Amino acid sequence: MDQPLAAIILAAGLGTRMRSDRAKVLHELAGEPMIGRVLRAVATLNPHPLVVVVGHQADQVRDVAHRAVGPRDLRCAPQSEQRGTGDAARCALTEIPETFAGDVLIGYGDMPRIDPGTLRAFIDDHHGRGADLSFISVELDVPAAYGRVVRDAVGAVAAIVEARDATPAQLAFKEINTGIYLVGAALLRTALAQIRNDNAQREFYLTDIVAIARAHGRRVFAWRAHDDAEFAGINSREDLARMETQIREEVNRRLMAAGVTLIDPATAYIAPEVEIGRDTIIGPNVRILGRTRIGASVVIEGTAWLRDVTIGDRCQLKICVRAEDCVIGEESEIGPFANLRAGTELEGHNRIGNFVETKKARIGRGSKASHLSYLGDAVIGRETNVGCGVITVNYDGYDKHVTRIGDRCMVGCDTQLIAPVKVGDDVYVASGTTIVRDVEDGALVMSHHPQREKAGWTANWHRRHAGHPKARSDSGNGAAD
Ligand code: UD1
Ligand code: CA
Repeated sequence: MDQPLAAIILAAGLGTRMRSDRAKVLHELAGEPMIGRVLRAVATLNPHPLVVVVGHQADQVRDVAHRAVGPRDLRCAPQSEQRGTGDAARCALTEIPETFAGDVLIGYGDMPRIDPGTLRAFIDDHHGRGADLSFISVELDVPAAYGRVVRDAVGAVAAIVEARDATPAQLAFKEINTGIYLVGAALLRTALAQIRNDNAQREFYLTDIVAIARAHGRRVFAWRAHDDAEFAGINSREDLARMETQIREEVNRRLMAAGVTLIDPATAYIAPEVEIGRDTIIGPNVRILGRTRIGASVVIEGTAWLRDVTIGDRCQLKICVRAEDCVIGEESEIGPFANLRAGTELEGHNRIGNFVETKKARIGRGSKASHLSYLGDAVIGRETNVGCGVITVNYDGYDKHVTRIGDRCMVGCDTQLIAPVKVGDDVYVASGTTIVRDVEDGALVMSHHPQREKAGWTANWHRRHAGHPKARSDSGNGAAD
């Protein structure tokens, strides 16, 4: 593959058949907008440039595109009015230098299962045959609304005809256009300049470049693929749901074959990118998304939502854990009902118990927060125990501030730490303390009001309310409501 390669992905359409206010390519498949999946596959071929044609919700599509492929030669070409796939490809040409003399790979943003290996094989075949224009076709028992491949008397590709423009005889053809093309840049420019919109949809069809190239006497081939699932285009919510199910079943099969127990594969929604180690047990009702990596012999009891989380070996996630963009070190015990937000880093052997929320919290090895706490913008050392109801008061209405707690501390229940503040090593914080100033190593700190007591106060209180509608009867039982 010495020939320089550019790529164009069309993603400007709204996708009328989705019946959505959201651009079709932004709809998610296995937890990621479908355009992100397409672009990551194409980016592995290293095209320069990689052009995305954007129109509907251009800014969001652009953001997703950048996130998906990172810092490479990605360019967005606007298509102001969606006048068809041919018009969209024309818009993309503005981002490909006139001097570019290589091949252009063109694909659609609504075919999220496309595989890089297939694209590579397709490109090699194009070069092997000395083709001027190739596209990938596939044979379908139910060719539905796909463009039909029309061949001439000797079986050579003559044209692609859209289903809506096809004659009944053409509609019966089973070989369809998947929507992936490879064509020399010069031929592409010439052909796109010649397409017209005299068809059923009054659109400029990219597919017309096939007949135009033939008319110019160029070498045109259809590369027949065998696995049709890979090329399915998403046009409706039903298509989307079907593909989601296919992906899930495939991922689950692969994981189980690799030694992962899925207690109920029907309710395990695991993205294809996720890695899970041997002897890990995944309970029912889980979504595991993004670049999540789960170690070996981990137990996830069930009902969990995890995205971009790294989980060390032998961790246990009890029922109901939500975790995003965080690291959970080995042999930690999380939940039930824990919320680990972005930037949480647990070094290992930690315990984060029920109704504990963490955010941007770096917590050292062996430290615990077992009940009812908020730990945000916190740095906590090793072997420290955070008692029930401890709160880092990190927000002053304008800025977030950091709380630091050292090693081997005992932070008593119901402590508030007013950040920015630092508690040293080996500190004992008495329960109910409000920490407003730094605390030195080894200290006991408390901010208790002295306890006062008034003997007999309660009886006196009730006596003063005799005659009140809620007054207690003689037996002393209150009428609570
Ligand atoms: C297209 C092909 C059809 C093929 C099928 C494969 C054409 C004319 N038809 O049909 O032969 O079998 O894909 O899935 O190309 N888009 C734009 N701007 C536009 C119109 C579309 O950027 O003006 C983008 C859409 O966002 C979408 C892609 O192009 O990602 C394909 O458009 P879509 O309307 O889905 O084409 P199909 O009717 O599926
Ligand atoms: Ca489509």
